[in-house]
Amino acid sequence: MAQINPSILSADFARLADEAEAVRGSDWLHVDVMDNHFVPNLTLGIPVVESLARATDIPLDCHLMIEDPDRWAPQYVEAGAGSITFHVEAAAAPVRLAREIRAKGARASMALKPGTPIEPYEDLLPELDMLLIMTVEPGFGGQAFLDIMLPKIRRTRELIAKHDLELWLQVDGGVSAATIERCAEAGADVFVAGSAVYGAEDPAQAVRNLRELADKASAEAWWTCEH
Ligand code: DX5
Ligand code: ZN
Repeated sequence: MAQINPSILSADFARLADEAEAVRGSDWLHVDVMDNHFVPNLTLGIPVVESLARATDIPLDCHLMIEDPDRWAPQYVEAGAGSITFHVEAAAAPVRLAREIRAKGARASMALKPGTPIEPYEDLLPELDMLLIMTVEPGFGGQAFLDIMLPKIRRTRELIAKHDLELWLQVDGGVSAATIERCAEAGADVFVAGSAVYGAEDPAQAVRNLRELADKASAEAWWTCEH
C-alpha cells in the first residue's frame, strides 16, 4: 500500500503538535531540515525534532537538506527520528553514513536533487532503506512538480526490481491529486505532500484521498505484480 508522508513545512510551526494530530492516519510525518547553505532556506533543527518526537506517535521522516550530513545525521536519530534522509550531493561518505544511521536504529535514506542521476549509485542501493527522488529543486514548499523526473523514477524502480531490493522509493515536491498517479505509475511508493495536505480544508481526508489515488495507479502499473 502507498505511504503518504505529510510535510510539516506547509504546517503552522507555532502549533506543530496540533498539526501532527491533524494528519492522524499518516504513515510518517515528513520533517524538512534546511540550513541555509545546502538550500537557500532555513527551517528547524535538532531541538524541534526532539520535541516533535515526544509530541506525536507518528514516526518522523527527517529530510536533511544540510551540508555535512556525515556529522549531523546521527544526532537526528538520537533526537527520535525513525527515518533519516541525507542528500548524496552533500555526503562525504554515503555508505559509511547509511551504515551508521542503520546501526543507531533508524531507516537510512538517500536523496537525489533533480540534476543528480541515479545510475552512479546503483551499487549503493542495498545499503539503503529508501531512496528519495526530488521532484522539485529542494528548498521550498508549493513549487510545481517536475514531470521530467518521471523517467528517473521509472529507471530507479527497474534497478530495485533488477537487484530484488526491499527499497522504498519516495518522491517529494509538487505531489498532489493532480500528479500522484503519474508518480505511482512510474514506480514511487512513498509520497511526500506539503501544500496538498496542509492547504486542504481537511488534511486527514486529503491524506486518504492521495493514498487511494496512489494505490489505484500502482495496482495497474507495470512494476507491480497485481495485474
Ligand atoms: C522541499 C521539501 C518538501 C516540501 C514539499 O524542498 O523537501 O518536503 O515540503 O512541499 P510541496 O508538497 O508543497 O511541494
Ligand atoms: Zn522534503
